[in-house]
Amino acid sequence: MSQSNASIFATAARIGLLSAVLSLACLQVAVADDEDVITYRQLIMKQLDSESAALGMIVSGQIPPDSLALQAKATANSARSALKAFEPKVLGGESKPEVWSKWADFSKRMEVFAKNTAEMAKVSETGNVAKVTELMIDALPCKECHDLYRTKKK
Ligand code: HEC
Repeated sequence: MSQSNASIFATAARIGLLSAVLSLACLQVAVADDEDVITYRQLIMKQLDSESAALGMIVSGQIPPDSLALQAKATANSARSALKAFEPKVLGGESKPEVWSKWADFSKRMEVFAKNTAEMAKVSETGNVAKVTELMIDALPCKECHDLYRTKKK
């Protein structure tokens, strides 16, 4: 083996070691601290706010319905993420402690929310705006849940 080949192999071995160390470091970073948990669930909620508002513009005819299915699907995906986002028991933000002390009820509401928005997203693929509008009313129980589980902004 020539000198330069040997040093190439040595460098490759070092890069291999470095990437192993880096991926371990990344695994450690992936454990969210409490503040991150709160920020994350608030981001998902803000996303739901934008997505349901955009969907509202489409079903009300302000925007042509070309993106009806895309927008309904985006809302359904965020509803599914929302349940996951509240799983870590981290009190704070605008969440009432009841989110976790009444977890069976709260998580059931999230589950129903995710299921109904998924159903709405499926129907949206047919392009039937009227049917999506009808399903949307039950599929988006935002205020119902907030009245029970979110503290009002001052
Ligand atoms: C099953 C309960 C539940 C449902 C359904 C729900 N939310 Fe929320 N939402 C919450 C809780 C709890 C918070 C407070 C989160 C926190 O700050 O810890 C919240 C917070 C928010 C916030 C404030 C985020 C911030 O920046 O602090 C917005 C906006 C929001 N929700 C919009 C929506 C919209 C729009 C929908 C319906 C499409 C919806 N939510 C459905 C429980 C729910």
